[in-house]
Amino acid sequence: MAVALPAFTPLEDSLFLTLYARALDDRRPQPILGDEVADRLVGELDYDFTQLHPDTNLILNVALRARKLDQVAGSFIARHPDAVGLDLGAGLDSRVFRLDPPETVDWYDVEFPAVTETRREVLDERAGAHVIAADVRDPGWLDAVPAGRPAVIVADGMMAFLSQDELVTLWTRLIDHFSTGEIAFNSYTRFAIWIAKHARGTKTVADLVTFAGMDDPRAPERWNPKLRLVREILLSREPEVAEFPPGWRRYHRRTGTIVLHYEF
Ligand SMILES: C[S@@+](CC[C@H](N)C(=O)[O-])C[C@H]1O[C@@H](n2cnc3c(N)ncnc32)[C@H](O)[C@@H]1O
Repeated sequence: MAVALPAFTPLEDSLFLTLYARALDDRRPQPILGDEVADRLVGELDYDFTQLHPDTNLILNVALRARKLDQVAGSFIARHPDAVGLDLGAGLDSRVFRLDPPETVDWYDVEFPAVTETRREVLDERAGAHVIAADVRDPGWLDAVPAGRPAVIVADGMMAFLSQDELVTLWTRLIDHFSTGEIAFNSYTRFAIWIAKHARGTKTVADLVTFAGMDDPRAPERWNPKLRLVREILLSREPEVAEFPPGWRRYHRRTGTIVLHYEF
């Protein structure tokens, strides 16, 4: 029987588009991410996924950026077996299962309460994996996360829903909480934000986008003096895209689709 869902706000509802995109990637002959859990959830949840229309462009984009964020987090965990990991605005993403960290790592998926309630219902428990029901803009939720350990923080698809001021406050809070760590998120140029607000594939979230876009990846270094850019990962230049349709590469070169990776 399909898993019934609580009433989600339109913002929370945005998780279904990325979940579905990862499931559709998984059904491709050679998936980029291979997220079998996403595929399982799309089959199980009582949600009309046929109303969503992710095109190939969006599917490959969502799968590739998730893969890049997994690589950043996986590499950090390999170097820091005592790490704390955070996935902000985790939706129903099963990143912690893809990463499969050792039990010495504590991983926190942070999301609004309605979503965490559903996560608990549909995703298995695993040692070291925790869920925090919170609005990431609220100050208190970090109290539940151990400080003083190296931290890797990822945000996949969430940044567009925060204003720049909210982001600056959030990053500063995170940097103050942990002694050292890395932050990676998929960012948007101003042009990419314009496209997100006008493209058919992202129509469902267009009105919720509050981030104005960022053309200078070094801008966050000015948000907080401890932040240093590690790498600007232009998706159109990553090795995986050699197999993508040429139109994809042209499109994402133009929009500057990017994952940004910082350390502090
Ligand atoms: C596009 S979805 C991406 C979900 C997931 N990261 C993924 O890749 O499937 C954006 C998610 O960010 C969450 N979100 C947005 N603003 C948030 C906030 N202020 N606090 C917590 N979660 C937030 C939404 O509820 C939604 O699940």
